[in-house]
Amino acid sequence: MRNHPIIINPSLLSADFLDLEKSVRDAASSGARMLHADVMDGVYVPNISFGFDIIEKIVSVSSVPVDVHMMTVAPWKYLDELKNAGAYSVTIHSDVGDVCTRRDALARIRSLGMRAAVALKPAHPAGDVADVIDLCDMILVMTVEPGFGGQKFMEDMIPKIRDVKRIAAQAGVDVSVQVDGGINADNIGLCAAAGADNFVVGTAFFSAADKKERYGKLRAAAEKGASREARD
Ligand code: DX5
Ligand code: ZN
Repeated sequence: MRNHPIIINPSLLSADFLDLEKSVRDAASSGARMLHADVMDGVYVPNISFGFDIIEKIVSVSSVPVDVHMMTVAPWKYLDELKNAGAYSVTIHSDVGDVCTRRDALARIRSLGMRAAVALKPAHPAGDVADVIDLCDMILVMTVEPGFGGQKFMEDMIPKIRDVKRIAAQAGVDVSVQVDGGINADNIGLCAAAGADNFVVGTAFFSAADKKERYGKLRAAAEKGASREARD
C-alpha cells in the first residue's frame, strides 16, 4: 500500500548557478513539486556548495517546497537559519553526532515546523536509522557517495529501500523514502518498485533541453515502477 505521492525532486546542484532563478523557474514550470538543495561544508563531504542566503533566494522565486540535504558535520547548528530561509524539509546524515544529538536535532526540526529526515550513505545499512525513525518524515537512501552530482547510480542500494520500509513498518511509522544520486529514467522505476516515492534528480533533469518533457518521462517511469510495487 503506497501512502506517499510520487515526487520528482530536481537537485539544484546541477542548476545554472549564473542564472539560478531561471533554473528554479524552469524546474517549477516543468511540474516539479519539490526542489532539492544540497548544503556541503567541505568537511562532511569533500566539496562546498552553498548556504542559507542562496536557499532564501531560491525560496523567494517560487512556491515549490525546498528540501534541504545537509551534508555537514554539525547540521543542528543551522536549524534556525534553515527555518528563516524558508526550508520545507531538512535531512541530516545518520552518522553525524551521537544518537541523542540526532534525536534532539530531528525533534527541533519538527518543532520549527519543518519536515525531518535522515540520510544513509551507501556504506550505512538501513538499521542505522532504527533508533531515530520515529522522529522522521522521510529517509534518504543515497545511491551514490554524497558530495558530487553526475555520478553513477549504485543499483546495489535497491534492497536498502525495502529494508527501510520494513524498519518503518516495524516501528509503526509511515515514512517517505527518498533516493538521491545518479537517478535517471532508466533506473527510477527500479527504485519506485522497491518502495521509493521521492526521487532527487540532478544531472538527468537539468541536462535536458526540454525539462518539461524530461520531468514527464521521469514521472511516468516512476509511476510505472510504483505500479509494479503495488502488484508485488
Ligand atoms: C550528491 C547530492 C545529490 C546530487 C545528485 O551528493 O546529494 O543531490 O545533486 O545529482 P545527480 O542526480 O547528478 O547524481
Ligand atoms: Zn542531495
